[in-house]
Amino acid sequence: MNKTRSIVIASLLAGVGFMSCNSGNMRRNPGKIYAPDMTYSRAYDAYTSNPNFADGQTSRVPISGAIALGHDLPDHLVEGDTNAYKSFTTSYRFNEAELKEGGRLYMIYCGICHGTALDGNGPLYASGKFPAMPANFKDAKYLGMPMGTMYAAIKYGKNLMGSYAGQLDVKQRWQVIAYIKKMQSENGGTPFTLGATSGEAATPVVAVADSAATVREDKHK
Ligand code: HEC
Repeated sequence: MNKTRSIVIASLLAGVGFMSCNSGNMRRNPGKIYAPDMTYSRAYDAYTSNPNFADGQTSRVPISGAIALGHDLPDHLVEGDTNAYKSFTTSYRFNEAELKEGGRLYMIYCGICHGTALDGNGPLYASGKFPAMPANFKDAKYLGMPMGTMYAAIKYGKNLMGSYAGQLDVKQRWQVIAYIKKMQSENGGTPFTLGATSGEAATPVVAVADSAATVREDKHK
């Protein structure tokens, strides 16, 4: 009985050993291949060498001017282009939920300085820990500030205020601006009515309305 059992175990182990050797061998040399295209890529795989390019690499940098999927055209404006930014606007149109999200983002990124009430007296400034008075969005000076100027402030920063381009993508920047503009309209700023632009009944409720020419801008920093 014991002998039989050890023979069975020994042959099982041998079998396992044989199979693993065999499969190891299979990996190195598949022998006949049923569908070679599935084993060997006909395309050059990323990170493999490529004889077609001088540098021998398959992965290429995108051609200049390429726009990543889902991103908009670049705005072609540069830092300090104050006049151009004055008339800069967006084709984004926000519904109520997106506008609310703009408010949430404002509270996270801007409220600490500009204040939850948008009065420039956020906790960081009020506590005396920040040396410069943040813009008081309820002040006449800022009530009529063009959206594009606000956009430039978010993208590049303004004096002691740093850039928020790294924290907010293009859409989010406009969402925050839409929120500020809406709050301003309730505090003496230019009227801001949801759904105000012409002929867009079918699209979501409009939060950002501006008479200036519509310029598409990018999500690149
Ligand atoms: C760390 C504090 C701080 C934070 C956070 C901050 N700001 Fe500011 N912001 C300032 C200060 C200070 C100024 C005044 C700059 C000046 O005019 O010298 C300012 C000015 C501005 C202006 C006026 C720009 C101009 O051209 O005069 C806008 C618009 C603005 N901020 C928007 C925002 C938005 C939107 C956010 C959130 C994404 C934000 N700020 C976050 C401190 C801050």
